[in-house]
Amino acid sequence: MEKNSATNRIVILISGNGTNLQSIINARSVGELNAEIVAVISDRRNVFGLERAKLAGIPTITLEHTQFGHRDEFDLTLAKTVAKFNPTLILLSGFMRVLGNKFLRHFQRNIINIHPSLLPKYKGLKTHQRAIEAGDSFAGATVHFVNEYLDAGPCILQAKVKIGPDENCESLAKRVLKMEHIIFPLAVQWFCDRRLALKNGIAIFDGIPLPKMGQQFKNSSSILYS
Ligand code: GAR
Repeated sequence: MEKNSATNRIVILISGNGTNLQSIINARSVGELNAEIVAVISDRRNVFGLERAKLAGIPTITLEHTQFGHRDEFDLTLAKTVAKFNPTLILLSGFMRVLGNKFLRHFQRNIINIHPSLLPKYKGLKTHQRAIEAGDSFAGATVHFVNEYLDAGPCILQAKVKIGPDENCESLAKRVLKMEHIIFPLAVQWFCDRRLALKNGIAIFDGIPLPKMGQQFKNSSSILYS
């Protein structure tokens, strides 16, 4: 498919290690992402994700949520900070805060999150522990558009990971994270190539509404890489 040559401007929000941020930086450096990463913003100081951004020559900002009395104040300041970069897409990449309407109303349609579960299962925290305790056969990760509810916006892409008999949270988290690093840049690439969009609250891929749980990632699927 012909790629749209207009420049995509991505702002990435992080809270920690930034391995998903790294997957986006890497995709861009090998020419798989038609986009410029214009800023990385962290709500926590001294996190390794900021170092990753600096190493890649990306401007960084730290906006600590603990410095704000009320979450609305943080959301509004964050919205103003992000807006200065005039982004076409905002990524929540291990960003561990729920953004309220004070933020979302500025950018509602163009925010994508990566979450470590097969949504709609296990919104919020401790996703791997909950999947193991429930006796699930599969865990996984979901890339989805963000709305005002926790981990509830329209799903774009999911990758499943089989839960082994001796699985623990750490081993599962590692395996799921590997899949995150594949599906996150892939979904971002779709968006940047104008194959993916949010229209009237529905995720549309190549002109067709995506299923409720999004596209299912399969390693061997050539369609996904076309
Ligand atoms: C990732 O597993 C990501 O899916 C998760 O935090 C981790 C961050 O890793 N995000 C959430 O739980 C958001 N609800 P990273 O900082 O190495 O990318």
